[in-house]
Amino acid sequence: MQQNNKPIIAPSLLAADFSDLKSELKLCNDSKAEWLHLDIMDQQFVPNLSFGPDIVKSIRPHSNLFFDVHLMVSNPFDMLSAFIDAGADAISFHIETTEPRFTFPPKILINMIKKNNLRCGIAIKPKTSFKVLQKYLPFIDYIVVMSVEPGFGGQGFIPSTLEKISSIDKNLKEKNLRDQIAIQVDGGIKLHNAKEVINAGADILVAGSEVFKSENPSETINKMYSL
Ligand code: DX5
Ligand code: ZN
Repeated sequence: MQQNNKPIIAPSLLAADFSDLKSELKLCNDSKAEWLHLDIMDQQFVPNLSFGPDIVKSIRPHSNLFFDVHLMVSNPFDMLSAFIDAGADAISFHIETTEPRFTFPPKILINMIKKNNLRCGIAIKPKTSFKVLQKYLPFIDYIVVMSVEPGFGGQGFIPSTLEKISSIDKNLKEKNLRDQIAIQVDGGIKLHNAKEVINAGADILVAGSEVFKSENPSETINKMYSL
C-alpha cells in the first residue's frame, strides 16, 4: 500500500468549482496527484449534501486518477454497488455508521468492497478511538483519520490528530500490519501543516480547499509533493 514510503496527495473534489468539473479535474490530472478524493454526504450522517454516483460516473472517463470514494452516509451498504459501478477504485465508510446499530456489520461492507477488487478503507471521526477498528484491521487497506468533523470542507485541522496518527502508526507497526494498511488523513490539510502530518505517519493526504481555492491548484498539489 505504501509506495516507497512516499506520501500520496489526494485532492478532494468537494472544494472544486462544480460548474466546471471537467476543468477542475484536468488541473488534478495535470499535476502529480495520484488519487482523487470524492466526498459523498447524505445530510443524515453529516449535515451536508454533496454529490452521488452519477457525478462520479460522468467524470470517470476524464481521468486516470485513482478514485477514492469517502462515504459519509448513514447507510453505506445501500450505496456500494452504485459507486462500484460508477468506477470507484477504493471506498471508505465510517465505522460510526455500523457499530452501534449493526444494521450492516462492517465485515459485510468490507467483503462487498473487496469482492469487487476495490481497496477498502474505514473512516473514524475525530472523537472515535482507533481501538474500535482492531478486529477489522486484517481485512482493510487503509484507515481514514478525520482531522475535522466530517461534513464540510475548509475547516481547521484538529491538532490532537497528530498524536492519533502517531499512535495508529505505532500500533500498526507492532502488529506487523504497517505495509498492508495506509493511513489517510482527511481535513484541514494545508501546505503549512502537511509536513507535520506526514512526519506523524500519514501516507495519504486529502486536501480540498488548499488545492482548489489556490490560484494554481496543480502547482499547490505539486508543492505538497515536494515538502
Ligand atoms: C470533510 C471531507 C474532506 C474535505 C476536506 O468532511 O471529508 O474530504 O473535503 O476539505 P479541506 O481540505 O478543505 O478540509
Ligand atoms: Zn473526505
